[in-house]
Amino acid sequence: MSTLGILISGRGSNMMALADACAEGRIRARVGLVLSNVAGAPGLAEAGRRGIETLVIDHRASRTRDEHDGKVAQALRESRVTLVCLAGYMRLLGPGFVKAFEGRLMNIHPSLLPAFPGLDAQRQALEHGVKVSGATVHYVNESLDAGPIILQAAVPVEPDDTEETLSARILEQEHRIYPEAVSLHVDNRLRIEGRQVRVTGR
Ligand code: GRF
Repeated sequence: MSTLGILISGRGSNMMALADACAEGRIRARVGLVLSNVAGAPGLAEAGRRGIETLVIDHRASRTRDEHDGKVAQALRESRVTLVCLAGYMRLLGPGFVKAFEGRLMNIHPSLLPAFPGLDAQRQALEHGVKVSGATVHYVNESLDAGPIILQAAVPVEPDDTEETLSARILEQEHRIYPEAVSLHVDNRLRIEGRQVRVTGR
């Protein structure tokens, strides 16, 4: 059975969506570790309540990104993690980490990539005046929010939307497509071919 390692920095609602999908059998995997770079991340307590092992690795305790990434990688290996899911993890992971977990490292982003990568994607969408936005689950490569796309879901942007209302509409879709993408991966139904992620078999 696959073992997920979920990296968070805050609220952890996507982590909970993944953990609940595992507990309910919608993802054939267990969550082996929820790891945060922020000691007070609310998601840690939620993971603890679900009986999931948690760990804090404060990035400020390391002098370099590589040193921090190395500690994170080591912890994931110790927990026998086979798929790493970034879920609101607010630290960039360096090329060494990305290489070590290539094809086994996913992220969720609150826009229809390649539009609006980086921070505050929902605000960027509103400021740009787009009429449709959404969520993207993708494999992580060495460029920010630019890896091969697994699943996307679109939502309308309403004229009276605020960052909060748009974020809430997108989040609902995040909680739907992230478990779906992880389930496809652990069932070995995803094939990365260059930029394409093919979904195989039924
Ligand atoms: C989500 O919007 C996710 O797409 C982005 O950061 C946010 C994390 O929210 N990467 P949560 O911590 O999962 O509730």
